[in-house]
Amino acid sequence: MDIGIGLFGLGTVGSGVVKILQENADQITKRTGSRLSVKHAVVHNLNKERTGFIQNFPITDNATDILNNPDIQIVVEVMGTLDQAYDIIKRALNAKKHVVTANKDLIASRGQELVTIAETNGVDLFFEAAVAGGIPILRTLSTSFTADEISRVAGIINGTSNFILTQMTTNNLAYANALKLAQDMGFAESDPTNDVEGFDAAYKLIILSNFAFGVQPVLGDLAITGIANVTDADIADANAFGYAIKLLGVAQRVGDTKEAISIEVSPQLVPFSHPLATVHNENNAVLVNGESVGEVMLYGPGAGEMPTANSVLSDLTNVATDLALNTPGHPFNSFNQDLDLAKPSQRIARRFIVVEVDDTPGAMYSVTGMFAAAKISFTDLKQTPAANGTARMVALTHPASDAQLNVIKTTIRNADGINLAAEYKLFS
Ligand code: HSE
Repeated sequence: MDIGIGLFGLGTVGSGVVKILQENADQITKRTGSRLSVKHAVVHNLNKERTGFIQNFPITDNATDILNNPDIQIVVEVMGTLDQAYDIIKRALNAKKHVVTANKDLIASRGQELVTIAETNGVDLFFEAAVAGGIPILRTLSTSFTADEISRVAGIINGTSNFILTQMTTNNLAYANALKLAQDMGFAESDPTNDVEGFDAAYKLIILSNFAFGVQPVLGDLAITGIANVTDADIADANAFGYAIKLLGVAQRVGDTKEAISIEVSPQLVPFSHPLATVHNENNAVLVNGESVGEVMLYGPGAGEMPTANSVLSDLTNVATDLALNTPGHPFNSFNQDLDLAKPSQRIARRFIVVEVDDTPGAMYSVTGMFAAAKISFTDLKQTPAANGTARMVALTHPASDAQLNVIKTTIRNADGINLAAEYKLFS
């Protein structure tokens, strides 16, 4: 069977898709029984030079050239915009074309609506490339964990922030220089705010939560902290205690009977001995804890042209198989259930706390008194030499809840001469 593809976007990922389709055409046909080829591409900028593949298809800037083309069965959307991509995907689905997209923002925010439109029209809507670039995590969750009860999905799911933290840690690069390098290497978003403020990871974690727990959170349901406030001193102190600082996305069942779900993106301390601490630079890793399987970790490139394109190809070949078997129209993820959102008292973890105090007699005594009042107990304590009349106290604690931490934050805010400089969870 010949299957025609229409491509919206010929940037980094789009070019990679064309390259794989052209270079691996025979293997794809051997595996799927179908011949997949690009019939048309629609781009914003017709004047941009495009290299690395044979341009044996027309490139125009008019969406209807693809949407009205009867030779095109699958639309690939890799433009990266939100409203325009929504409009194109919706029109494509209503035109009974299968859709493959890498658009995490769109799927995280309007995915349910698009999934319903796809189902109504009996077509596929796949988006493996939307989460963790080249790591095949969504299809793994939807096919290989069907019978297991997942208790936690956690991972490093933003390559840019992981690259920045790695460069700050291992090469002593300043934050801004590390970010510039990530942008030059092509894996930061065009506006890196979403990468460094945690929103890119949050969109991916929303999609992971759909697949792992069957829940449909919105951005406001997540606790989101990025890496912009992680300091060299925090990294050095965490390292001294035996931990790396990583931006993690963590969705987990919590509560006495695991009745609730906590969904959070934040920089956390990961023990050097943990596999997640060995994930460096733009690489991603997703850890899945299942009641039956135990712990599984998928590791790989979280961004970049060819890895992300490979995930798009995985979707394309799955559509090809559905067409060959006449089975399209089933949702990528059909798991649905209601879980309560975790309360602050249910978000419990050990903590790494940094407090700055006036270097005066009794200051440390009053700090420890505040933590005692909040029933937070220290396991390790370190005070670095005072600078400019201020001492930096770094502590690791026994497990404490966000509710307890909120008490401490309020107490410190109302106290003189004490500042809560940083607070991180410890991941285990
Ligand atoms: N900007 C993303 C990242 C890659 O840094 O992980 C695409 O999801």
